Amino acid sequence: MCGIVGYCGLRPAAPILLEGLRRLEYRGYDSSGISVGNDGKLTVIKKMGKIKNLKSHVPEDLPGTFGIGHTRWATHGEVNDENAHPHSDASGKLTIVHNGIIENYIPLKEKLMAEGVEFKSETDSEVIVHLMASLYDGDLEKAVKETVTHLEGTYGLVCVHADEPGRLVGARNGSPLVIGVGDGEMFLASDVTAMIAYTKQVVYCEDGEVVSLTAREFRTTDLKDREIEKKVDKVAWDLSEVEKAGYSTYMEKEISEQAESIHRAMRGRISTENASGILGGLNLSNQELRRVKRVRILSAGTSYYAAMTAAYMLESMARIPATAEFASEVRYANPVVEPETLFFVISQSGETADTLFAMRELKRKGATVLGVCNAVGSTIARESDGGVYIHAGPEIAVASTKAFTSTLTVFYLFSLYMARMRDMAFHNGKAMVEALELIPGKVNEILARKDELQAMAKKYLYAKNFLFLGRGINYPLALEGALKLKEISYVHAEGTSSAEMKHGPIALISEEFPTMMIIPNDSLREKNISNLKELKARKGPVLVIATEGDTEIADIADDVFYIPKTMDILTPLLTAIPLQVFAYYMALGLNRNVDQPRNLAKSVTVE
Ligand code: G6P
Repeated sequence: MCGIVGYCGLRPAAPILLEGLRRLEYRGYDSSGISVGNDGKLTVIKKMGKIKNLKSHVPEDLPGTFGIGHTRWATHGEVNDENAHPHSDASGKLTIVHNGIIENYIPLKEKLMAEGVEFKSETDSEVIVHLMASLYDGDLEKAVKETVTHLEGTYGLVCVHADEPGRLVGARNGSPLVIGVGDGEMFLASDVTAMIAYTKQVVYCEDGEVVSLTAREFRTTDLKDREIEKKVDKVAWDLSEVEKAGYSTYMEKEISEQAESIHRAMRGRISTENASGILGGLNLSNQELRRVKRVRILSAGTSYYAAMTAAYMLESMARIPATAEFASEVRYANPVVEPETLFFVISQSGETADTLFAMRELKRKGATVLGVCNAVGSTIARESDGGVYIHAGPEIAVASTKAFTSTLTVFYLFSLYMARMRDMAFHNGKAMVEALELIPGKVNEILARKDELQAMAKKYLYAKNFLFLGRGINYPLALEGALKLKEISYVHAEGTSSAEMKHGPIALISEEFPTMMIIPNDSLREKNISNLKELKARKGPVLVIATEGDTEIADIADDVFYIPKTMDILTPLLTAIPLQVFAYYMALGLNRNVDQPRNLAKSVTVE
């Protein structure tokens, strides 16, 4: 989704802004632009399409040591050069970049137009710059503060004025902004990734804050001009983690890292002595956790399928009724908040607007909300009552892979912890710990055989549709497998429970309509095999993910990929991998842009 980068310092700004924008490409965008200040003037260059296109229009020696840049993911108005950011006022002296949505832009626009202002774009964002220009009297910080009081909606906003060289002013409400503190230079971006090549010292801005930066200092105030003390944090990862490291795509790299990322999610979080999990950041005592009667887990996208899998774990391991819900639905459903209900929000990025706003709504009603996030210092991580980082490392490919398996790992540990303080016996906890510790090795065994999945994908490149089926704890995995395939290959795919297939989706089945079934050797295997036979009776091609040694399935299905044996409940950590790899090779075979699929954004910061 939209990305922002701003720079003020001593070096030429344009190359730094372009490099920052390149680092933000992963978020998904359709146009980009920069505004660079020099000698009482701002030069604005903006283009639809890829950063490469923008770069080819920026003179190599563009002078100016301060400026702002933006990647746009269209919400209001089509994808074209005019709608790209930065937006300028009539004088061309003021430019702004904006993430978020201004909900009252129509009345503001009408009022400005009645005053004679001419609009060049169809965006909601352009009202901001004209409104600000009308309020500007030589003090950009003051103009920003006055402007935002008129705005309804969400914004991460960064502005520059030609008459205030070397200054960036930003404001935040609902869309992230992070200050990067360099040596004699400052950055202001929507995401640490944009500036990690230059500095690891960062300051996270909060909603309602306005920040004014020059090369040497930053000042943070609220809208009433009261100074706010800010803490400088150090980013724990470095540039190499956001590089492809020899892989051809980020997605391939992130899929391949999963033995290590699952291991990291567990590291230091297992007590062999108690045969239980150790999760330090929950901020809840054992007594409080024992009082929990219900768990509701809110999220979006892949995180939602992680939530469904987690709900299954909590019920079956800890005997706690648990549900997964779309955060976007809960926010507007006037959710009932009972003291015995523990809420979780899952968000890899920690910035998804649907999830963040649902969390705020719950907290307003007095709920305890724990966050499970990957991005350290993200808004959800900071605003939740406690939680767990999954420590998957930066995930750059739009389609989530390693964050999914790491989130599952964290919920296995949490479920184990809850189970062991209720009625799970020591020996069962011990068996689970031992099985969990073996998972990374098994993930590597699967990854070592990814060419089998590549060959399978090649065979099914003809498919225009795909059905994914699973049961029990692998039902959400079927949904996630379908999501992965459609996200990156654009092949229509839907998932459902193997049992539900006969209640409708079976009508779709024909020789051209393949199905991917997840059939581990668990208590539901026989039921699944009946469903498999129902598909074969209708001549539907079927690919199966099965447990090694299950030769009976190979006799019925068209193709089988075997996963190593593990405990029934842990199979999702293994079945996830071939689903991801299969989708990956389908997408490669269809020549798709695997890392940046069309229309999608990595972190969706609008509702
Ligand atoms: C977007 C991404 C998905 C992701 C979802 C939730 O839609 O394209 O890959 O699963 O957001 O993201 P989150 O960061 O909240 O887990």
